Amino acid sequence: MKIELEQLKKDFENTLRDVKDHVALEEVKNEFLGRKGKLKTLLKDVATLADEERKAIGKLANEIKDALETAYGQKESELDMRHPGSRLDQEWIDVTEPGKFPSEGHLHPVTQAISEITDIFARVGFTSVRAPEIDWDYYVFESLNMPKDHPARDDWETFFVDLPEGKKGKIVLTPHTSNSQVRVMETTKPPIRIININRTYRRQIDISHIPMFHQFEGLMIDKNISVVHLKGILDYFAKTFFGPNRRTRLRPHHFRFTEPSFEVDITCGVCGGNENGNCRLCKGGWLELGGAGMVHPNVIKAGGHDPEVYSGFAFGWGVERTLMMREGIKIDDIRVLYKNDLRFVKQF
Ligand code: PHE
Repeated sequence: MKIELEQLKKDFENTLRDVKDHVALEEVKNEFLGRKGKLKTLLKDVATLADEERKAIGKLANEIKDALETAYGQKESELDMRHPGSRLDQEWIDVTEPGKFPSEGHLHPVTQAISEITDIFARVGFTSVRAPEIDWDYYVFESLNMPKDHPARDDWETFFVDLPEGKKGKIVLTPHTSNSQVRVMETTKPPIRIININRTYRRQIDISHIPMFHQFEGLMIDKNISVVHLKGILDYFAKTFFGPNRRTRLRPHHFRFTEPSFEVDITCGVCGGNENGNCRLCKGGWLELGGAGMVHPNVIKAGGHDPEVYSGFAFGWGVERTLMMREGIKIDDIRVLYKNDLRFVKQF
């Protein structure tokens, strides 16, 4: 029996060596260590042995059993490590693999344009200020020489906020950045050179208009300021922002808050200034950047300064339009800027 036990151990070890997975291991365990397994069968007759021998065999049998169980345990953890989805498998890392890079975002093209415009004007001494984006009727219209019920106000397609009127009239979503003019003059002694870039709102939507857009407003007030200074600053901006190939023109216009007033046009960036009228965006070669003019004496007065002493110019242009007119950008629908389409935004 002793020999048979030793043999059993060897058999077990040999069989175990070929075991490749948990299923096979379980079978081998049953075969040798199970209730009807080889070890049990072999030891069935131990009880019939003489005392001395029974003790010796019993002891050996226990040792063999322990040895088999230890071997089984070792094999089991070995398989655990190798098994797909095992810890070894999960925690294995290839240290030579390149790292994962989180995708990087960037500023929206309109935000980029705003910083660039701010920089361009900063270089010629214009300080960046921020007038409110929701403001009193007074700063948006009244102080700009547009009394209540004046028909000129209609051009601004204004959103009025449904709140009680205050001393300075109703509250509006600013339809232009010109509310900065009197606000700045009220608190600043000339010389004044500011740029106010802000969100503006008008009730309009089509290929070249959206209800929320941005404007940048320049204001310069000092002694002896003339149209020549205005023209110089506009040309400087156009050359710096658009490049030397774009042409600009001033058309006479009318604003209540400037006199004389102009509309500033620049050749279209999509068609390159073709006046045949076929361009989807400009329909005639020129795009209107926005208004400009010499600040009206009434506005200088409203700002608390003497129009006999001080004069100045102002201009107000759309940021989105300005960006769209840039050479090489060729956006033919302003709405694409706010569609949140990454395929578009990632190009900038
Ligand atoms: N505020 C005017 C507009 O929105 C533009 C403008 C600004 C005109 C300053 C003249 C001077 O159209």
